[in-house]
Amino acid sequence: MTAKMAASIVEHGEDAFRKLFKFYKRRNPPPDFSEVINFSKPCNDKVFAFELNSTPISEEDVSKAGLQPVKDWRAFGLHGYPGFIFISNPFLPGSQQYWVKQCLKIYPQKPNVCNLDMHMSSVETENIWGKSIDVIQRKGCGKREPKTLLEKLRWVTLGYHYDWNSKTYSPDHYTPFPKELHSLSHKVAAACGFPGFNAEAGILNYYRSDSSLGIHVDESELDHTPPLLSFSFGQTAVFLLGGTKRDDRPTAMFMNSGDIMVMSGPSRLLYHAVPCIVPAPAGNTLPPCLGQRLETEAKGDYIQSVPEEDWDVCSWYLQTSRVNVTVRQVLATGQTFPSSQASHLTTDSCEKSEEGTQKNNKRKSESGYERDA
Ligand code: OGA
Ligand code: MN
Repeated sequence: MTAKMAASIVEHGEDAFRKLFKFYKRRNPPPDFSEVINFSKPCNDKVFAFELNSTPISEEDVSKAGLQPVKDWRAFGLHGYPGFIFISNPFLPGSQQYWVKQCLKIYPQKPNVCNLDMHMSSVETENIWGKSIDVIQRKGCGKREPKTLLEKLRWVTLGYHYDWNSKTYSPDHYTPFPKELHSLSHKVAAACGFPGFNAEAGILNYYRSDSSLGIHVDESELDHTPPLLSFSFGQTAVFLLGGTKRDDRPTAMFMNSGDIMVMSGPSRLLYHAVPCIVPAPAGNTLPPCLGQRLETEAKGDYIQSVPEEDWDVCSWYLQTSRVNVTVRQVLATGQTFPSSQASHLTTDSCEKSEEGTQKNNKRKSESGYERDA
């Protein structure tokens, strides 16, 4: 079945999203990706150039976060999805390596929380990177070794740590949000027309080549006015963007390394999912933009070049993996978490609305979002 045939079968209907999700998730034979929007060579009626606001942030300021000048970013909108903005890899050559190293070596460290904490002691999960690299280096020698903690990593939470079971954030479970990621997010949001964005929570998802991420809406944040930002590194994924109803037919697009997605306004609460990681065309290869080294490293920038021994591990990992970081503002400016009684009421009404509308994020503490691998 071609993607066009799948598209005609899956117009609207009860399971339109689920059917397309399964279509792209299939591995043998691999699905036809010809209907998937590729923003790095956009030639699709649905895609239009999106005008960003380059005035609020200076070139110097964005370069500190490893980004090109905003006037050079290639940003797109999608007809039918107001508030959805796709920025095709705006990172400066070499700077993705820094962000990848943060995601693999730094952000899984305590006090951040990860899936391994759900069944291991804090002593066991205290140095995921350090405990993994020796084994990874031995793997290079062709030895059979058990899976490392790095390979078992599925999610990390930052800032207000998302509770996968209650689907809430809480003031009692907060650790400082990484300042460089806060700054990157602030700049991207400002360029997209949200100058006051305050990164308060982050979810990192680690995908192996057979991973997927179930159909869900991100609605646990208490204020939905600020956008949701998403940063992708490593292998390409197919992202499905649906509607406000579970049965709205989604649009499929590739998310490549360095791509940034902004879900704002009417697109903030749309159903979405990642059905598959796209097999690299020539086996285990890194996208070329990840192989570039940092050209200059100015004093005072937090973007620094990654030591070669660290990059060896990162590049080995990303040959078969993808990392996605979503950054969220949880509260409106000046808003506080509801008092315990009020928060009880919120939970109640949330559960009711889930039953009523069958909106169920199906997130589990161990596996994070519903996923198969
Ligand atoms: C999420 C999410 C999408 C992705 O973490 O909420 O939707 O591209 N991630 O991994
Ligand atoms: Mn999401």
